[in-house]
Amino acid sequence: MASSSPQRPAVPKTKPGAHGPVGDTVLWQALGDREHLQGVDDYVAAGGYEQLKRALTMQGSELIDEIKASNIRGRGGAGFPTGLKMSFIPQDNPKPKYVVCNADESEPCTFKDRELIERLPHMLVEGCLIAAKTIGSNHAFIYIRGEYYEPALVLMEAVEQARAKGLVGENIAGSGWDCEVIVHRGAGAYICGEETALLSSLNGYRGQPTVKPPFPAVSGLYESPTLVNNVETLATLPRILGMGGAAYAAKGIERTGAGTRMMSLSGHVNRPGNYEMEIGKPMRVLVEELGGGMLGNRKLKAIIPGGSSTPILTADQLDTLLDYDSIVAAGSMFGSGSVIVIDEETCMAQLALRVAEFYRHESCGKCTPCREGTKWTVDVLTRIVGCEARPDDINLVYSIGERIIGNCLCPLGDSMAMAVNSYIDAFRSDFDRYLEPGFVPPASSSLNDIASRTVAAASVAKPGVTWMGTGLSRKSFTPLASGAVASTAGAAGDEEA
Ligand SMILES: Cc1cc2nc3c(=O)[nH]c(=O)nc-3n(C[C@H](O)[C@H](O)[C@H](O)COP(=O)(O)O)c2cc1C
Ligand code: SF4
Repeated sequence: MASSSPQRPAVPKTKPGAHGPVGDTVLWQALGDREHLQGVDDYVAAGGYEQLKRALTMQGSELIDEIKASNIRGRGGAGFPTGLKMSFIPQDNPKPKYVVCNADESEPCTFKDRELIERLPHMLVEGCLIAAKTIGSNHAFIYIRGEYYEPALVLMEAVEQARAKGLVGENIAGSGWDCEVIVHRGAGAYICGEETALLSSLNGYRGQPTVKPPFPAVSGLYESPTLVNNVETLATLPRILGMGGAAYAAKGIERTGAGTRMMSLSGHVNRPGNYEMEIGKPMRVLVEELGGGMLGNRKLKAIIPGGSSTPILTADQLDTLLDYDSIVAAGSMFGSGSVIVIDEETCMAQLALRVAEFYRHESCGKCTPCREGTKWTVDVLTRIVGCEARPDDINLVYSIGERIIGNCLCPLGDSMAMAVNSYIDAFRSDFDRYLEPGFVPPASSSLNDIASRTVAAASVAKPGVTWMGTGLSRKSFTPLASGAVASTAGAAGDEEA
């Protein structure tokens, strides 16, 4: 594996201090000066599992009130208020209730959950247990993408360490409450990050989305009430209980979902990596101060603010605040919190093709507009980028996108269409020039720079970060020894899974 990896530039540690232009950190602050808190004794010495013990003395409704007071919104992409989601779990339903942690993290250029798991695995385990106590569950599953082999090992070790301390399993901390935590490896399919596809996969079926309603809160795992939350969302719960919901809400911009967010910064910046920031700081702070500015002093051309599935912003929008409402007002979405910085040398038509290829590959094929539309988009963009375009091909790509948007079972098809169409809207001339006689297309090295720097930022001497088109995530899949932990079927067409 290591021998087939690209050359990786050194990446500095990316833990900003507790204060400064990014505001207070909450998650990284727990580390202090340590690189990680993988050992349960270290975590306990740093105050770990104290909030679980407190939660054991509280009613579910009290815990929900505290989490609602924190104003935290889910960090997985949709940004749904976490406390409200917990309150949707029906307490009068006689079926068991389940917590499912979404550690699928397959959105291109998103690698924050991985680092959280590797540095603070017990904080996630504690968060899962607090969530289970909150909704009255006795089982928490952590569904982790198949390529995250090392993080899965770290998590499994953390669960067993916690079990040995009486913090997982039966009669937790002598409270009489039982809760099992199960680490479950997926088989490597982007669609299995979508919550209903994830639950289908966990149920043992093909990883494809299902129609909502019913929502997982009512009928999820084993057709029982299920709370699905992202790694970062759950890992934040012990910190929220520790500081109090109101104190957490006071960070960031309260009206639009408070607190801090882990931002995965990648692309053409000098210091890519994961930076925790208070919500509502300008994107410029992330790119110029934390990220060290543009690679090679090249000019900024565009920014993708929330992972590859979000519409692109232009260089003049660099002062947009990193909060849910401001990014929507600017024409995009906060998504998974991963900011991709793109320099002037990047060709948007080539980027569109790279993005479309990723979504075509990951489409589960269940609904026609996505299955066929992603393929058509790739076919027509291939003609354009290959200088073989028909006169109306750019409009054709756009109109395919318009027919996909709003007509799919899940957001995957829309994601590709909205991203590609936003590149055409903002950078039409990058596409038009391919129709000019004698046009010589630029080399795609700029795209490859984004790929290699994403890999570097996520320190992929370890396998498993997605970048569109490198094939890294698939080639690096390493199965665990059989029986170590259950693995599950991936999406349709995932022939390498
Ligand atoms: C195609 C697709 C992929 C997704 N991938 C992830 C993922 O890898 N991790 C994640 O937490 N949420 C992902 N989501 C969002 C989940 O469906 C869900 O909203 C989230 O896990 C809820 O957790 P939260 O409320 O804590 O954000 C994805 C959604 C879609 C449509
Ligand atoms: S939009 Fe795409 S990924 Fe989602 S259900 Fe339809 S075919 Fe599957």
